[in-house]
Amino acid sequence: MAVVYLNGRYVQAERAKVSAFDRGFSYGDGLFETIRAYAGWVFGLERHLGRLKKGADQIGIPFEGDAGAWRRVISELLRRNRLQAVDASLRLTVTRGPDVLGSLLPPDAPPSPTLLLVARPLDAGIAERQRVGIGAMTVHWGNPFNPLQIKSLDYLYNMLATAQAKSEGAQEALFAGTDGCVIEGATSNVFSVSQGMLTTPPESSGLLPGITREVVIELAKREGLTIHEAPVPLDALLTADEAFLTGSLKEIMPLIAVDGSTIGKGSPGPVTQHLQKCYRAAVEQERAQVGAGSV
Ligand SMILES: Cc1ncc(COP(=O)(O)O)c(C=O)c1O
Repeated sequence: MAVVYLNGRYVQAERAKVSAFDRGFSYGDGLFETIRAYAGWVFGLERHLGRLKKGADQIGIPFEGDAGAWRRVISELLRRNRLQAVDASLRLTVTRGPDVLGSLLPPDAPPSPTLLLVARPLDAGIAERQRVGIGAMTVHWGNPFNPLQIKSLDYLYNMLATAQAKSEGAQEALFAGTDGCVIEGATSNVFSVSQGMLTTPPESSGLLPGITREVVIELAKREGLTIHEAPVPLDALLTADEAFLTGSLKEIMPLIAVDGSTIGKGSPGPVTQHLQKCYRAAVEQERAQVGAGSV
């Protein structure tokens, strides 16, 4: 039976209770992070907690982002769910907590946040999709979707876009702006590669600043690759040599087709594959460096 961590306690998922007046439930008034654990090692935890803390500060929800404390909670949750030795997906949700139903305004009383951490086995299909690549479908619903660029609980359009993409045989939805440029995926950021040069849409396009995007930009620079944060017109993406998507669970996912039109050779390209290896090396490096000091 799954165990979750709710408001400081480990409880059976079936017994976990959140108030019917919780503002996360009523208004999407909260934030979340999705983080990948590699056989017990949570990659990029400081970055994820940093993004969550920044968003929480922006919208006035108290959140304590101490990485050491969270690492201990995560280890214990993985252990209780027998997920220490496998790859797992963690989701940390923080809401403003309960208030009297019916008020769209933030409550007058100081927030009493709800904090929920769940751990699940990683989707077993990710590894195969990383090997062969995936197709995406564009949705043209305009921009911006996320004016504060925070990972808020409001994922209605991301979810509907993903469902639409899946119903048409694609794995991911790509949001395109009215200017014809690609902004990001429903649960990913996007990169194109042409003549060995990488381009990814800039933060000013309204995207969610992905942790994996940040790591990949650093890795690409370290590898001596040229990388531009610049608008990516859909046409340019379609005619790129290679493309890939990034996300904490999917890491670097080769994007081999968009709207049924093949990108490059229609298989994961060499730059994408090289960065996939670099990413895994970065995970191991962090485990060796940070992990050694934290256990
Ligand atoms: C809209 C959106 N953009 C980008 C990402 C990638 O973010 P990260 O690399 O932090 O997982 C996600 C992840 O879920 C997302 O939902």
